[in-house]
Amino acid sequence: MATTNGSILATQSWDLTDFVVNKGHGVKGLSEMGLKSLPKQFHQPLEERFSEKKILDQVSIPLIDMSKWESPEVAKSICDTAENWGFFQIVNHGVPLEVLERVKEATHRFFALPAEEKRKYSKENSPINNVRYGSSFVPHVERALEWKDFLSLFYVSEEETSAFWPPVCKDEMLEYMRSSEVLIRRLMHVLVKGLNVKRIDEIREPMLLGSRRVNLNYYPMCPNPELTVGVGRHSDISTFTILLQDDIGGLHVRKDNGTEWIHVAPISGSLIINVGDALQIMSNGRYKSVEHCVIANGSQNRISVPLFVNPKPEAILCPFPEVLANGEKPLYKPVLCADYSRHFYTKAHDGKKTIDFAKISDI
Ligand code: OGA
Ligand code: NI
Repeated sequence: MATTNGSILATQSWDLTDFVVNKGHGVKGLSEMGLKSLPKQFHQPLEERFSEKKILDQVSIPLIDMSKWESPEVAKSICDTAENWGFFQIVNHGVPLEVLERVKEATHRFFALPAEEKRKYSKENSPINNVRYGSSFVPHVERALEWKDFLSLFYVSEEETSAFWPPVCKDEMLEYMRSSEVLIRRLMHVLVKGLNVKRIDEIREPMLLGSRRVNLNYYPMCPNPELTVGVGRHSDISTFTILLQDDIGGLHVRKDNGTEWIHVAPISGSLIINVGDALQIMSNGRYKSVEHCVIANGSQNRISVPLFVNPKPEAILCPFPEVLANGEKPLYKPVLCADYSRHFYTKAHDGKKTIDFAKISDI
C-alpha cells in the first residue's frame, strides 16, 4: 500500500494492525495469543529501547507525607521537589484507599471486556470524541507502536459521563475524580504560593485546573519486552498529573535532563504527582515537567490510571506576571491550551519536544 508519511499502519502487515487497532483486540489481545516473538511493528528504534538506558539503582524520587500539607516544611518540600525533580510520590494524601482499589478493579474490568465491547469506544465508533479506546499513542503517525492499550475519558459533565462512559468503570472513575478534588486544590494552593502568586482569580483558576482527563492504561505481558516500550519518552501536557499505579512497576523518570533514569518503585497506597508542561510554562520554567517512559514487562500485566489536571481548552497559557516581576525574561509565549493539546495529540511521543511549541525562539 502506498504511503507518504512512513506510517506503520500503511506500510506493514495490515492484518496485525487491523486485529489490534480496528477490531479492538488491542495489544492485550495479541499478548493473550501467546506470541513467541514481538511483531516488528512494535520494534522500537535502538535508541528508544531500554537496554540503551542507564538506570540508577539506589535512587528514588522523593516521597512526601501530605498529612501536614499546610505546614511550611511540607509546603517547601513540595515546591522544592516540583522545582528539582518534577516528580514525587505522596502518602496520606486523603484519597481513600478503597476508592483507589475500586479504580484498579474497574480498570481490569474494562480491559477484560470482549473486543466487540471495547471497540464501541474506538476512534471510529465512539459516539463522542471525549471517550476513546485505543492502542499505542497515535498509531497512524508512529514509526513503531507502543505496547499499551488505553481508555481515555475527558470529563465534561455528569450528564455526558452517565450517557457515554463505559458502565463497567464510570462510577469508579467519577468517584476517583471527586475524591481527588481536595488533594488537587491543596497541591495547587501550595504550588502557586511557591511562585508568589497570592490570588487565584477567575482567570487563573481555569488556566490552572479548568479540566480533567482520566486515562486507564493497560500494559499486557510482552514477548521480547527489551525490543519495545510501554510508553515512549514524553512529558505530560497537564498542569500536574496524579498517577495511580499497581504493584508491578515499570515507570521511569529522567534524572536532571541527563542520560540516567530512575525507576518509580510502587509504594502501596501512594500516588505519584508530576508537573506537566502547562505548569512549567506558567512558572516560566521554575517547576519542571520531566520526561518519563514505561518499560514493557515480560512476565506480568500492569495497569496505571493517570488523572490529568489540565487547564481549560479555552485558556491561554503563559508565564504568571508574579514570576516575571523580578525582571525575569519570559521563556514562553502565550498559547491557546487547545492548540497546545492538539499539537501533542497529533504526533508521536518525542521526549520534551512538545514544549518547543510555546518557547520563545530567540532565547
Ligand atoms: C501517561 C504516563 C505512566 C504510567 O499516561 O502519561 O506517563 O506509569 N503513564 O503508566
Ligand atoms: Ni505521562
